[in-house]
This record gives sequence, structure tokens and C-alpha cells, in this order.
Amino acid sequence: MAWTTEKRYKRYEDWTQEEVQHIKENIAKSPWRANYHVEPQTGLLNDPNGFSYFDGKWVVFYQNFPFGAAHGLKCWVQMESDDLVHFTETGLRVLPDTPLDSHGAYSGSAMQFDDKLFLFYTGNVRDENWVRHPYQIGALLDKSGKLEKIDKVLIEQPAEATDHFRDPQIFNYKGQFYAIVGGQNLDKQGYVKLYKAVDNDYTNWEVIGDLDFANDKTAYMMECPNLVFINDQPVLLYCPQGLSKDVQDYGNIYPNMYKIGQSFDTNKAAMINPSPIQNLDYGFDCYATQAFNAPDGRVLAVSWLGLPDVEYPSDRFDHQGAFSLVKELSLKDGKLYQYPVPAIKDLRAEEQPFAALTESKNSYELELNLAADTEHEIVLFADKDGKGLRINFDLKAGLVTVDRSLAGEPFALDFGTSRSCNIDKEATSATIFIDKSIFEIFINKGEKVFSGRVFPREDQTGIAITKGNPTGTYYELDYGRKAN
Ligand code: FRU
Repeated sequence: MAWTTEKRYKRYEDWTQEEVQHIKENIAKSPWRANYHVEPQTGLLNDPNGFSYFDGKWVVFYQNFPFGAAHGLKCWVQMESDDLVHFTETGLRVLPDTPLDSHGAYSGSAMQFDDKLFLFYTGNVRDENWVRHPYQIGALLDKSGKLEKIDKVLIEQPAEATDHFRDPQIFNYKGQFYAIVGGQNLDKQGYVKLYKAVDNDYTNWEVIGDLDFANDKTAYMMECPNLVFINDQPVLLYCPQGLSKDVQDYGNIYPNMYKIGQSFDTNKAAMINPSPIQNLDYGFDCYATQAFNAPDGRVLAVSWLGLPDVEYPSDRFDHQGAFSLVKELSLKDGKLYQYPVPAIKDLRAEEQPFAALTESKNSYELELNLAADTEHEIVLFADKDGKGLRINFDLKAGLVTVDRSLAGEPFALDFGTSRSCNIDKEATSATIFIDKSIFEIFINKGEKVFSGRVFPREDQTGIAITKGNPTGTYYELDYGRKAN
């Protein structure tokens, strides 16, 4: 099906019941729907938005085009959870239905004020000449799920920015509310702008300046910047589109990167002593990670397991994209660790010592121990000939390689079929989550992460061990109370 602009921007009310029914029936035929990861009910899921704690529950929205696997007219769909593992969808929440967001409710963040959740997001508007106007706008969600949009622009497009100016993140630093917005300046360089809420009023923002994080200025746009504080150190997660691979190598069409600062100077709008830029994830499909300082003291993050401008095999079943598991961020010896929240263990059902398997439900967790000076290779989503997702742990060379070239249907081939990263040569561990068409690999409890999608054939459900003999545990995972 051709996704013309007209079709992508067709108003929601103009999609017929029959068309929606057809999409649902098509999705029901998909062999690749996840078991325990958040996925769109219909259509395309992209960025996580508004990840927050509100009214005693965890809240996150997925940005969605509900009518097929295309980047069309976007809305936010609300998910709630009491354990950060089981999520329930509570409805389409931020619709593109006002003059300030008529062409899409784009990315943003959320924070509770009094008994309402303030949503801070980008209203994407196209005028009659299809010129884009990005408005940083807000809405208030009450406890019954009623949403009221604030009828004014909260942050205007700055004079030095192009129409690529979006994705506001609100955060609290030492009792003062700030926001950062990602953008592109008139020299077509990506940058991040820092604002302050005047008198802590979230409807009144004044600019502090361009965030100084030793930006190398090779990217043309900074999407989805997030600033979190771990032990008081600022960590900036962001997506520098077009970043030069000489600055930091990466394999995906667009990277998700981070920098760790020593401290944060709000007056100078600066991250002091920022680290070099680093890959947040060494896998194939991880973007637009959203993180926040949760009221319980943890720093939580969730990523879009998908990328812009990539076609996925699931598109023909009218669905695309999933969320990663919720990950807790921490700093150890100056390094960022990302690891699924402990409640993920509640999914564990049957367990057995790790060994080759001819057949599984492709819904499991592996905990593997990797001894120093050894090399191991396993194949997940393996067919009877041992072809599938190949993972090589070479602790002699200090290298992990993930190769998806034989794992079902090929896609995104322009960006290669394998990814590698260096690890310490000392004994370490790998925790691997497999969910139908998703893998998330955490080396050394999250010091290095590989996430991605594969679209296996029906006979690719096994586990093969093709080198060495890694020991560990296999846990079958059972979601139990699936929401939809
Ligand atoms: C990142 C992004 C954001 C934007 C949204 C639009 O994936 O491009 O910058 O707000 O998606 O869907």
C-alpha cells in the first residue's frame, strides 16, 4: 500500500470502521507480536512520551499512528503500570485536534503538579503551504483521564532555530523546574536549548541559553534530549541525527547517544566537564530513549525499539515498533549502566539450566556466566540447522558480536547485519531477554547493551550452542495478565 501524504494525514474521524477492522484482522495474523513488551494496539509506535509517576501509578505514553505502519498523523496513547513491567492501555489521550497540534502530537514529557499531570509536548502544525510550525505546548490530565489542553504556546520557536525544534523535557533540579528542547540552528547544526520556569510556573518559560555540553556540532538535529541526574551528576541522553562517525562510531541510521557531566551549572546553562559522547545501545533498533528522575529516587528509562526511516517486515501486518523493557540507570566507576527493573523477575515461570533447545516459545530470559579467557557462541531464534541470531562472546579479544543476518526476514540491510562492542576481558555475565521478535542483551549487568528486532521464520524457535559451553539459567517468561 502506498502511503501518500494525503493518506498519512487523513483525519482520524475519516477512517471508517471497516478500515479499522481490516487493520485489526491483519495484525491478528502477525507471527511477530510480542508477549511481554509494550506494542501498539494498531499501527506504528514510535517515541516513549510523558514517562512519569502520577496518582500512585507509573504512566507512559507511546506515540502512535493508529492506521498502519507509517509515520502519519501522530497521537499519544496512555499506558499505566503499578510495577513497571505489566502495562495496561487506557486510551488515545493526546489527539492532534487543535490548531496548535493539528499535524501531530509530537514528543514530550510529563510531571505531576497538584492533582494533575502536566504534559509538555510539541504540537506539529503544517500551514497551507505545508510549512512546519513547531509549538511547544501543554495539557493537563486529571485522575479520571480527562485531558485539557492549555490554549497557548508555552515556548515559541527561537529566531535562530529552523522548523526542527521539538521534544520538550521538563525536569526538577534542586526545586526549580527547567526544560530542554532539541533543535537545529540556522547553520543546520543540532543543539539543545535550556529554559527555566519563571516562579516555577509551568506555563511561563524564559530562556537561559544553549546548553553547553561540548557539542561537537557535527549533527544536524538533536532529537529527544533528556537530562537526568544520577548521584547529582547530569547525564544527557539524546539523538544527534547526522553525527559524524569520526566523533563516535555507530551502525544505525540515527544514533542514540549520551554524555555524563561532572556537575550542572544552571546559570551558565552548562554541563561541567562532559565526558566524550558514547553509544547508549550497541544493537540495531534503539532510539528516542526517554528517562526521568522518579520520585522514589530511581532514574528510569524506556526506549523505542525502532528507528525513523526504516521499513520493518511487520509493516505488512500493519504494526511497527515496540518499547524496550523499563531500565534503571546508574553510574558505577564513571560508567553508565542500564538494567531492567527488578520486577522483571516476576515474569519468570519455568527454569532450567542453560542448554541447547530444539524448540521454545521465543519468550524467555537467559542468565549466562562468561569466564575470562574463553570464547562462546550461541544462536537464538535458531532453526534445526543452527541458523538464527548469532551472539559471539569473545573474552580473549574482549569483544561481543551480534549478527542477525540469518535470523528470519532481512531488513535495514543498508546499515549492516552485525554489531559489535568491546568489553573487559575479565569474567562477566550476559542477561538476555527474548520476546517473539525482540532481543535485549545486557552485558555485565547493563554496562553494555544491545537491543534490536528480528523477524524469525516459524521454525526459528530453538537455541543452539556453536562454540564453547556457556553456563547459566534459562527462564521461560510468562506475562500473565496481558492488557490487550
Ligand atoms: C523522534 C521524533 C521526534 C518527534 C517525533 C515525531 O523519533 O522524530 O523528534 O517529536 O519523533 O513523531
